[in-house]
Amino acid sequence: MVEVREAAKVLSQARRVVVFTGAGISAESGVPTFRDALTGLWERFDAQALATPQAFQDDPDLVWGWYEWRRTVIRRVHPNPGHEAVAAIEARTPRSVVITQNVDDLHERAGSAGPLHLHGSLFEPRCASCARSAPVPGGEEPSEGRRLAPPRCEHCSGPVRPGVVWFGEALPEQILETAVQEATDCDVLLTIGASGLVYPAAEIPKVAAMFGGTVIQVNPQPTPLDAVAGINLHGTAATILPTLVAAAWPDLS
Ligand code: APR
Ligand code: ZN
Repeated sequence: MVEVREAAKVLSQARRVVVFTGAGISAESGVPTFRDALTGLWERFDAQALATPQAFQDDPDLVWGWYEWRRTVIRRVHPNPGHEAVAAIEARTPRSVVITQNVDDLHERAGSAGPLHLHGSLFEPRCASCARSAPVPGGEEPSEGRRLAPPRCEHCSGPVRPGVVWFGEALPEQILETAVQEATDCDVLLTIGASGLVYPAAEIPKVAAMFGGTVIQVNPQPTPLDAVAGINLHGTAATILPTLVAAAWPDLS
């Protein structure tokens, strides 16, 4: 694919790279995406109705059970070659950062150092009352759709909530600020498996393009980010990314 060769050239010459990821990069690990017709979580659950502060207030057991089920799914799967290729890009680039919308820990388990989680993480539960962080529960692995009473905070006995950003909630300010700054400064932004539909996260690739960065998109489908992508690689993360890394650093593969 000529686009892969073009993308590899740009990537290998870049000094500052941002890797921006969405649910699509974890799809080939077996983690459902949100909006995909085939594996989207929206299909089986109305994620929008579960991922809100109101839903947690109305029915904490249903919401906590849903997130715990998702966490157990993630504990059972593994990073795929797409995550591993991202870690390889970080190892070969003078300055790079992963900015992810995902709440799984697959980038970390593939060796990425300190990804910025714009939408929080399933592995950072916190008290819904006093906001103190709470331990990640062990034990019970709820099945899909299973209700589970959230644990109580050790400090104030308030209910513990998932450490993710819900619809209607602000993104973690410091993380968003850092992400925008990194996008402003980068030479290349590689967006992988993001539908570009949810804001403000979807602004990040646009900021990179606005400040002169080259945006390379990896996605089997067209997305609104096509408009800012200088190079579009139509394919899946686990197939395209290892090929891209091998083409960018042939001597190192
Ligand atoms: N490789 C690369 N991309 C893929 C793959 C794959 N194997 N499979 C699917 N995709 C693409 C889809 O074409 C789609 O564009 O991944 C994207 C997944 O889109 P969404 O399900 O909307 O996920 P995402 O963009 O991360 O959603 C953003 O919305 O629900 C909220 O907080 C949630 O962080 C999430 C945010
Ligand atoms: Zn508390």
